[in-house]
Amino acid sequence: MTTAQIREAYLSYFESKGCKRMPSSSLIPDDPSLLLTSAGMVQFKPYFLQQKQLEEPYVGTTTVQKCVRTNDIDIIGTTGRHLSFFEMLGNFSFGKYFKREMCTMALDFSVNVLGLPLEKLYFTVFEDDDETIQIWKDLGVPDDHISRLGEDDNFWRAGPTGPCGPCSELYYDQGPEFGCGSPDCAPGCDCDRFLEYWNCVFTQFDGQEDGSLVELPKKNIDTGMGLERIAAILQGVQTNYETDVLRSLIAVGERLAGATYGEDATVDLSLRIMADHSRAVTFMIADGILPGNEGRGYVLRRLLRRAIMKAHLIGVEGHFLNEYVDEIVRLMGDVYPEIVENRELERKLIMAEEDRFGATLAHGQAYLEQELATLSGTTLSGTTAFTLHDTYGFPVEITSEIVGERGIQVDMDAFEREMEAQRERARSAGAKDAEAAWSTYGGVYADILNEVGPTAFVGYQHTEAPATVVALVRDGQRVDVLEAGEKGDIFLDTTPFYAEMGGEVGDTGRIVDGQVHAYVEDTTAPEKGLVRHSVKVEGGRIATDDTVEAIVDARRRASIERNHTATHILHAALRQVLGDHVRQAGSYVGPDRLRFDYTHFEAMMPEQIAEVERVANDRIMEAVPTTIYETTLDEARANGVTALFGEKYDTDVRVVEAGEFSRELCGGCHVNNTAEIGFLKITSESSVGSNTRRIEAVTSYGALAYVDKMEAELRETASMLKVPLFDVSERTASNLKSMKELQQAAKRGKEAVSDDGINELLSMAQQAPAGYPVIIAKTPAQEAGGQRHLWDVVRARMAAPGALVIAGENDGKAVLMAAATDEAVAKGFDAGQIIKAMGPAIGGGGGGKPTMAQAGGKNPAGIEDALEIARNMVL
Ligand code: SER
Repeated sequence: MTTAQIREAYLSYFESKGCKRMPSSSLIPDDPSLLLTSAGMVQFKPYFLQQKQLEEPYVGTTTVQKCVRTNDIDIIGTTGRHLSFFEMLGNFSFGKYFKREMCTMALDFSVNVLGLPLEKLYFTVFEDDDETIQIWKDLGVPDDHISRLGEDDNFWRAGPTGPCGPCSELYYDQGPEFGCGSPDCAPGCDCDRFLEYWNCVFTQFDGQEDGSLVELPKKNIDTGMGLERIAAILQGVQTNYETDVLRSLIAVGERLAGATYGEDATVDLSLRIMADHSRAVTFMIADGILPGNEGRGYVLRRLLRRAIMKAHLIGVEGHFLNEYVDEIVRLMGDVYPEIVENRELERKLIMAEEDRFGATLAHGQAYLEQELATLSGTTLSGTTAFTLHDTYGFPVEITSEIVGERGIQVDMDAFEREMEAQRERARSAGAKDAEAAWSTYGGVYADILNEVGPTAFVGYQHTEAPATVVALVRDGQRVDVLEAGEKGDIFLDTTPFYAEMGGEVGDTGRIVDGQVHAYVEDTTAPEKGLVRHSVKVEGGRIATDDTVEAIVDARRRASIERNHTATHILHAALRQVLGDHVRQAGSYVGPDRLRFDYTHFEAMMPEQIAEVERVANDRIMEAVPTTIYETTLDEARANGVTALFGEKYDTDVRVVEAGEFSRELCGGCHVNNTAEIGFLKITSESSVGSNTRRIEAVTSYGALAYVDKMEAELRETASMLKVPLFDVSERTASNLKSMKELQQAAKRGKEAVSDDGINELLSMAQQAPAGYPVIIAKTPAQEAGGQRHLWDVVRARMAAPGALVIAGENDGKAVLMAAATDEAVAKGFDAGQIIKAMGPAIGGGGGGKPTMAQAGGKNPAGIEDALEIARNMVL
């Protein structure tokens, strides 16, 4: 059976048993506890936890799930069993069928559909699970084909917490010739004899943080069969790499390297790694993961770089991974259309990474070799590993792997210290004044928070509120009073002032009470939940326990709100136009403008910018009311609300929705209706690092001010050019063209009279027998005007009044000039006659006065002859 046939046989078998066939979920799990989707059950966690229900009449679900596992990346390729990317066939029941039904189907499918002989099948069961032992026996499995294993083998968990349970595994006996020969060899042994191909988990517990197991309300089934592994068994091949799909990818490598698989262990290793990693890379990119330095981006980068490095070892360099992608698309594109749809993205990202790493790889290897040559002992220093990482882009795991092959280890602790020091440098470089100030203040804010508790924030509903002063700080010290003219911090029990957070700037405004008047310059949160109003007291004195009125600059706040909601709309528009890989990487939301950083791998085309602007403005002009509500993080995720990757959220979260289009977790201030934004104008798009781009934009009054400014600029230009407003570009283009022509003409003139040129001409002066100096020479390209100008200069600098005859080539034509002073003419020089005589030699003619004559001709090849004629006449 081919891989495709096995996949289909499995899914239709379980469909026929009442399971709903569902698509594979993304490799980016909707689950903050996991980096990547590594099992079929990941998308079904909410069902196990009864947060979601499967509709009737289905008894369960069945899927083929794309999975990535890289915890053992360094052994991938060295064994025939491990893969970074694989497909897992699964069926799942949420309280409908359980052990007996599952075991029955597993055996039936194995024997009757796949045709595996019962005598070759072995079954392991969790140590105290007598029930399952009995079930296998009832189904006709001989006693000596059933064994018990402990927690490590037969208890399955996706992570430290969450749905889990005991499991029973099915093994296929490849025969003693594959075994280790040990008398204890049995299912669970590390050797290749017994291959585990199907894991049936009886998911009946929810693992808690403290390690305890809580019974789930219903008993569930979660099974997983590695598609490549079962294909290897059925196709009678020794490893996953010889199954149909992977073997086709190995063949791509054979072609690239001009090698044959199976002849040389080192070459085979590279071919396997290239085949395996290229699949993982293709699928990860298709699901929106970009190479980066953290999280899944780092996993992707490591896979890419490991493949590039292994390819390099067997002489494959440059852009080669796309050859694999083409083959993967051909082999798997019908089951996973996303890899076809994102072909362009895959191509570009892979080539960019090949360029980036390819440029430093050889240098890095040379550096490493040099370090190894002088190494004493078996430990490579953390500094060397760090340099390889920082300067040459070697992921530390790859360095470990390379040196590990020679029995050397990397000093990982020292490497981590170097990394931490680098992070620290970055942090302190970027540390804001406020934080620097905070550290000099010591714990004064923490003390205030302890003493008075968090500030009650009422600013979502109000921009003005009565409040009581609960603490005052001046120069980092607690004080009881702030006097007129002093600067300091005011802390209130309640405030409408928003403290800078999540990219949104802090509010400004006033805190007043009768004669007291303090201007709030900025609002920040030095401790979580504690709002600090940085003020300048402009009149009166303000004391602890005073009751005051806190008044936010509402006009400014309204502008901030417009820009904040606009940022969300922009985010959604970018995802719509550029794709789902777009993720927020940072933002600034101020009253005058907004800035949005996001992941994307190349500069946007002007048309894409226009499209994003159009989509965003459509949403704005649709006048969509915003809805803001609080919910739990799980609920929000279940509803597909956008959360920022890497952000830590509380379990209670706030959701900001602008219709269906934009739904984000956000604690900031927003408009009530998108129409308030007026319109949005993107003012710039630029790069801020690898795979991160920045958009700056303005809205409402800011956009108006921007457009006004552009218009004023245009009007001024139009008035200078003396043309109507919309003729500016046309006129500018024609002016530029004339300017260029003038510049060229000027340049030619300049060349002709350059000092060196003049000196050279002057040095060629000869004495005519009639008694005057004459220069007869070929000169560089010049038109007639340039030649006359040249004569002016030469004439002034000749030792005595003389004459000049020159010939040159200009635009493929010959140009001649003869010129003389009156003195030379008096001694017999006749420019007109000379030019007339020279003309035929250049296929043209001309003439003039005795003092000045010029001619042109179409035959520049005759220039020398023409000059010879002049020499004969004059000298
Ligand atoms: N979750 C189990 C596994 O991944 C069975 O699907 O092995």
